[in-house]
Amino acid sequence: MFRALDMMREVNERAAAGENIMRMGAGQPCFGAPEEALDYARATITSDPRQGYTEAVGMLSLRERIAQHYEEYYGAKANPANMVISVGSSGGFLLVFLAAFDAGDKIAITTPTYPAYRNILQTMNLQVVEIETLAKDNYQPTVELLENCGQEFDGLIINSPSNPAGTMLSDNELEKICNWCDEKGIRLISDEAYHGITYGKKAQTALKYSDNVIVLNTFSKYFAMTGWRLGWVSVPADLQDRMKKLAESLFVSPPTISQNLAYKIFDHMDVLDSYVAYYHKNRDILMTELPKAGFKNFTNASGAFYVYADVHHLTNNSEDYCRRMLDEALVSTTPGVDFDVERGHQAIRICYADSTENIIEACTRLKKWQS
Ligand SMILES: Cc1ncc(COP(=O)(O)O)c(C=O)c1O
Repeated sequence: MFRALDMMREVNERAAAGENIMRMGAGQPCFGAPEEALDYARATITSDPRQGYTEAVGMLSLRERIAQHYEEYYGAKANPANMVISVGSSGGFLLVFLAAFDAGDKIAITTPTYPAYRNILQTMNLQVVEIETLAKDNYQPTVELLENCGQEFDGLIINSPSNPAGTMLSDNELEKICNWCDEKGIRLISDEAYHGITYGKKAQTALKYSDNVIVLNTFSKYFAMTGWRLGWVSVPADLQDRMKKLAESLFVSPPTISQNLAYKIFDHMDVLDSYVAYYHKNRDILMTELPKAGFKNFTNASGAFYVYADVHHLTNNSEDYCRRMLDEALVSTTPGVDFDVERGHQAIRICYADSTENIIEACTRLKKWQS
């Protein structure tokens, strides 16, 4: 199940039919890529209308540009030779799970979690181990939790800032998890999809703390290139050859025009940072308005563009609750069961990547609906 996308399809259809729905469901930026980067991509179409295949692992120039970004932004080393440009980070997950694991291996995810991890792992006959994180830990894992969860696993996926909670691991805890996985021989996969979208301290990459970690990132969120379908993976040297062979056969090449745009986008991070300032403002509006709309407990999101709200005092059935909210208040959100099969019946995810005007209107509608 991937209810956020089911909901997005329905909302798109209803909006096309004329309904004025406020969109706090699917997580995508309300902005496009910076204009000057788009100009560069347009120019590459003029100079090279063919836009033919690139290397299966992506253009070397883009991989080098990403490595430079690691150096400048994090002070971390990334090797372009161990990098694969993927079709979204979603395509990256497919490659990583196939390259790093064998059927039957156990991979741990920490709930509430991005639902596609579970879905992709299950289609590959990999066993999913679910570890419940706690509100007191900001819905992030700790070494203590992993150590005492009573389950064994071959791989672990972490996500900070996270979808759906918008919360982050501290640098210290991230380093401890990296070290713990290294000691135990557990393949650590760090999904850094929301890096860049943080409202206080910026997120550190797991590459800083371990040479064995697999890091995924995407151009869909901070870089506002959602539909261009481009991401990247940095893998340890032992996986690179397998990743390359899989990428060749599964995708032949990531989209060329998207790689041209991505190459230039790193020169316009000032524009991307202004988008983050905008999400920050939206977040602050929600923090003030949600309690007035009857939401008592929600995550103190410090990154991504989501708030995860506890609605146990309002419903025991988050799917029904979100459906009623959509039909009666014309506000779309995502039921928590998408992210946490056990506890998500009493939670919802609210995305605030839409325009500030719409966020304010959504809050007005929710206050009226819940009064
Ligand atoms: C945590 C997380 N990882 C990965 C993805 C996949 O993004 P994409 O395939 O667009 O790179 C998403 C999308 O919402 C996400 O929330």
